[in-house]
Amino acid sequence: MNVLVLNGPNLNRLGTREPLIYGSTTHADLAEMCVAEGKALGFAVEVRQTNHEGEMVGWLHEAADAGTPVILNGAAWTHYSIALRDACSQLTAPLVEVHISNIHQREEFRHHSVISAVATGVIAGLGVEGYLLALRWLALRQK
Ligand code: DQA
Repeated sequence: MNVLVLNGPNLNRLGTREPLIYGSTTHADLAEMCVAEGKALGFAVEVRQTNHEGEMVGWLHEAADAGTPVILNGAAWTHYSIALRDACSQLTAPLVEVHISNIHQREEFRHHSVISAVATGVIAGLGVEGYLLALRWLALRQK
């Protein structure tokens, strides 16, 4: 099975961006971890990152058409992008929303996600390991 891991704006800056909040793992490290975990679980994992909302919407349409499960960290778009939510609503396979930080412990504007109501499940605050847990859940669900 193919799995898409989609990361939104500023996540290309992982490793240097606010390391006390997001840790020291770079986006390249994260991608490598996800691909390796996927391989161990029997998935072909593709990790993508964009700072452009339209590009992200296009990737979600691609996943919807192909029936591909998605692990999504919408980053800041999580909190306000109805375009992202509408694209997520069209997905035909599970959607796991992941946040590296615990958005509920942070500023009030981060407490609400417009994605959560259309996600299958949400993982927040477990660091980059949250992505690996999402992959494991997808594998368990298949059994
Ligand atoms: C984030 C949390 C968001 O509030 C923030 O805008 C991000 C990253 C996280 O992974 O913790 O860019 O989604």
